[in-house]
Order: sequence, then structure tokens, then C-alpha cells
Amino acid sequence: MNKKIKITSIVAVLYVIAFLFTGKHTNPPVSNTVSWDSPETEATFYRACADCHSNETKWPWYSNFPPVSWAIILHVNEGREHFNISVPKMGHADEAAEEVEFDNMPMGQYRIMHPEALLNDAERTIFVDGLKATFGASKSENHDDDDDGDDERHHN
Ligand code: HEC
Repeated sequence: MNKKIKITSIVAVLYVIAFLFTGKHTNPPVSNTVSWDSPETEATFYRACADCHSNETKWPWYSNFPPVSWAIILHVNEGREHFNISVPKMGHADEAAEEVEFDNMPMGQYRIMHPEALLNDAERTIFVDGLKATFGASKSENHDDDDDGDDERHHN
């Protein structure tokens, strides 16, 4: 066996090991029903947010391949931990409107692979109102304008 084939085999074996440690794609059962203010808000949420903030994730084919899979599984798990519409304790639902208003969400990397998740200004304005009507707005919503001197942010 020549050296090249040997190295290729070692790389292949390592990749299979990485593959085995890639972690599971989970979609736990949905145990919560959201009272959406409108079908549009719901549709936009499923278009731009549900992959990471619900248990109805559409796992893309490339999410099977390390190292991309590691990043995607991490983002979905972390996203669900912060805010998950599929469980009764949804988490930071009241931050949703603000995250969209300040264009923090959806996450940057997600936008590259999901152009359909991009919102134009008009869509964003409507979606923010819909999220407020559905999930409420966090108390910190106007903290950028407040003059009480404390500059607390509710982001990590
Ligand atoms: C690719 C996965 C992904 C997508 C898509 C995504 N998020 Fe997130 N989201 C995350 C992750 C990861 C976190 C936790 C880390 C952070 O706050 O940046 C998070 C955090 C949040 C939080 C909690 C913030 C807090 O203060 O704890 C809210 C609310 C949120 N996202 C709303 C949304 C909304 C609304 C959309 C759709 C417009 C969206 N996200 C799309 C991954 C995602």
C-alpha cells in the first residue's frame, strides 16, 4: 500500500468516527399550542424561526455531515433552550419581537443557507407587530430610550 492510500484511509476512518459522534437530530413531541394573532405571523415564524425555536426542525441534508452538523445541532439545541414554541414553558418568547426588530434573528449563518428566511423592512415591521400581539413584548423593550441610567441588556 503506498503512502497516499494509507493517509487517505486514515482520514476516512477519522471521518467515520467524527460522523458517529455527530449527535442526534431530535424533534421531541410538540406539547404546546401557540395562539397566533394571525396566520401570517405563524407562517413567517415557520419560515424564519421554527427551525431553531420549535421541535419541528426541518433538518437539512448537510446537517448530517461533520463539522457542519456539530454547529447546526448546537444552534438548534441552544435556540430551543432559550425559546421554544413547542413546549408550555416557551422561555424568552417575549423577547422575540425585539430580536426581530433589531435584526438579531434569524442568526447570520442561517441566513446564508436559508434565503427564504430573509425579511424585508415591510415584512419585518408586520412580523414584529405580530410577535408582540402573540407573545407580548418584554419589559426591556424600550431600554434604549430609557434614561434611568441602567444599561442592562437582555442578551448574552
Ligand atoms: C439557526 C438557528 C436560529 C434561528 C433560525 C433563529 N434563532 Fe433565535 N436563537 C438562536 C440561538 C442559538 C439563540 C441563543 C443565543 C443567542 O441569544 O444569540 C437564540 C435566541 C433567541 C431568543 C432569546 C433571546 C434571549 O434574550 O434569550 C429569541 C427571543 C429568539 N432567538 C428569537 C428568534 C426569532 C423570532 C427568530 C426568527 C426571526 C429566530 N430567533 C431565528 C438560534 C436561532
